[in-house]
Amino acid sequence: MAKKLWEKNTDVNPEIERFTVGKDRELDHFLARYDVLGTLAHCKMLESIGLLTSEERERIRQGLWGIYSAIMVGTYIIEDGVEDIHSQIELTLTRMLGDIGKKIHSGRSRNDQVLLDLKLFTRKELQDVCEGVKELFDALIEQSNRHKDVLMPGYTHLQVAMPSSFGLWFGAYAESLADDMLFLQAAYKMCNRNPLGSAAGYGSSFPLNRTMTTELLGFDSMNYNVVYAQMGRGKCERNVAYALATVAGTLAKMAFDACMFNSQNFGFVKLPAECTTGSSIMPHKKNPDVFELLRAKCNRLQALPMDITLIMNNLPSGYFRDLQIIKEVFLPAFADIKDCIAMATYIIKRIEVNESILEDSRYDAMFSVEEVNRLAAEGMPFRDAYKKVGLDIEAGTFTPNKKINHTHEGSIGNLCNEQITAIMENIYGSMNFEKAKEAEKALLTL
Ligand code: ARG
Repeated sequence: MAKKLWEKNTDVNPEIERFTVGKDRELDHFLARYDVLGTLAHCKMLESIGLLTSEERERIRQGLWGIYSAIMVGTYIIEDGVEDIHSQIELTLTRMLGDIGKKIHSGRSRNDQVLLDLKLFTRKELQDVCEGVKELFDALIEQSNRHKDVLMPGYTHLQVAMPSSFGLWFGAYAESLADDMLFLQAAYKMCNRNPLGSAAGYGSSFPLNRTMTTELLGFDSMNYNVVYAQMGRGKCERNVAYALATVAGTLAKMAFDACMFNSQNFGFVKLPAECTTGSSIMPHKKNPDVFELLRAKCNRLQALPMDITLIMNNLPSGYFRDLQIIKEVFLPAFADIKDCIAMATYIIKRIEVNESILEDSRYDAMFSVEEVNRLAAEGMPFRDAYKKVGLDIEAGTFTPNKKINHTHEGSIGNLCNEQITAIMENIYGSMNFEKAKEAEKALLTL
């Protein structure tokens, strides 16, 4: 069995090994390709300060490219007895290149290595999440514009309240995502700083060129203070989780609306048949399971910041193994949120709206405020108008005027979708994903 990187004279107790390695052999696969990218940048920097010759660095680079390819096709494994991806890559290189492979860890610790891997992984995942959110946003704005003249009831206390519209309903979720994008932007910016060179959390006596690795990896800047760089472990994940949670909150609310409005008792929207599921006993059923699962998954995602907080709560500065456990909840969360966003987008693009909801007289009373306002505009004091209309409704003599005229910003007749889109574009456009993508590509090409 392979020795641990740190194993000297004492043999490792297998039970202790099982417990301390935990799920790393599985979870570190999320980080594998980023570990290679980080090592490519680190070795170029080691060459620049004379700790590797250019020939050594070239051989390491070839070796790492081979490992990268194996990772990308899914054939790279973390062997039994090897603790984590960081150890495995060093071991593979040492098997390939002998002593040269043993040089890559100069000036580095697994503490800054895993910090870096997490940042690179999260940066990429956040790019995907932002792209997904933007696509859903665009679909919502399109539906909002398309159905801007279709009225529907608005509710307070789930009681029929005032006229609303599909323009407002779709647009509301778009604007919610524009606010969520602000959290994603902050999360991305916080994540986009280089921790490499903080080593175990206190830097190194080698004259590391941290500016160089920052540029090679396409980061905006570094986490300068080495103690703070280490303190970012857990903090970064938690803040990213808050951003994911706010998106999840928007999706969960939208999912509940969609399930409710799709029910026969409302009949406001219809999910396309291909997006529903059937019942094993009731032949007529077309259930909105997609939105129900999405709702539950998104509710669970909203617990993620709290999960992370509780794992690392009250740790003092400096590395602790506690931090490893965060990977268990954090790494798989991205697949979940991305799946939910993609499903929501697919259905929102295809959802059908009922254009004749208001023909049903049960919604007539929602025009009461229109009538009160009409009387008030003619000079009747608001309170008197309110009373008159209330009494007419009770007496069954109220006839609604369904030709409504709402003109102020953000109302049925003036959705301001262009302004909402400008807010979104402004945040989304400021993130400059290209810099990171190009830097990573450059590390993998001659
Ligand atoms: N698997 C470890 C983690 O996720 C890697 C860092 C190990 N560092 C250490 N000092 N034991 O935290």
